[in-house]
Amino acid sequence: MTIDSIEVLFQQELKDLYDAEKRLTKAIPKMAKAAGSDELKTALTEHLEQTKNQVQRLEQVFEIVGVKAQAKACPGMKGIIEEGEEVIERDAEDTFADLGLVGAARRVEHYEMAGYRSLIALAEAMGQDQARELLEETLEEEQEADRRLEELGQQLLEQVSQAGDEDEEEDEDDEEVEEDEEEEQPAPARRGK
Ligand SMILES: [Fe+2]
Ligand SMILES: [Fe+2]
Repeated sequence: MTIDSIEVLFQQELKDLYDAEKRLTKAIPKMAKAAGSDELKTALTEHLEQTKNQVQRLEQVFEIVGVKAQAKACPGMKGIIEEGEEVIERDAEDTFADLGLVGAARRVEHYEMAGYRSLIALAEAMGQDQARELLEETLEEEQEADRRLEELGQQLLEQVSQAGDEDEEEDEDDEEVEEDEEEEQPAPARRGK
C-alpha cells in the first residue's frame, strides 16, 4: 500500500505497534520468570498486565479510526526481544543477571515510547483526540515502567557496589590491624589497689 496520507501512515504505524505489544505479552513472562529479585519479578509481572491492557487500547484506537485491528510484523521489537532472550541465557551471577535484564527491559520500553510518541504526533495532526488520549495513557505507563526499572537498576547496582566495598574494607581492616600492632605502646604497669 502506498503511504500517501497521514491517515495511511498512522494505520501502518498502529499495526506495527500492535504487533510489538502482542509479542511482548509473550516475552515479558519469560523475563519475569528469569528475574532473581522479587522486586524485578513484580515490576515485570505488573507491566505484563498493563501490556495486555495496552493491546486492548490499541484495538480501541483501530475502532476509532475505522480500521480492522491487524498486526504487521515489527522486526524492531522482534530483535529487541531476541536480545532479551540472549541476556537471559548468558552466564551471569544473580545481581548481574538481574542488571542485564533491567537493561533489556528498558530497551523495550524506550522502543515503545518512541513508537507511541510518533503515533501521538500523527493522531494530533489528524485531529483524532480520542485516539491521541488513549495513546497518551499508554505512553505514560511505558514511561512509568521505565522509571521503575531505572530505580531498580540503581538499587541492584548499589548492592553490587556495596558488596565490592565490603570486600575492600575487609582488606583494609587487615592492614589496620598490622599497623596497630606496629604502633602499639607497652601497656602501663598495673597499679595495685
Ligand atoms: Fe507496551
Ligand atoms: Fe512497555
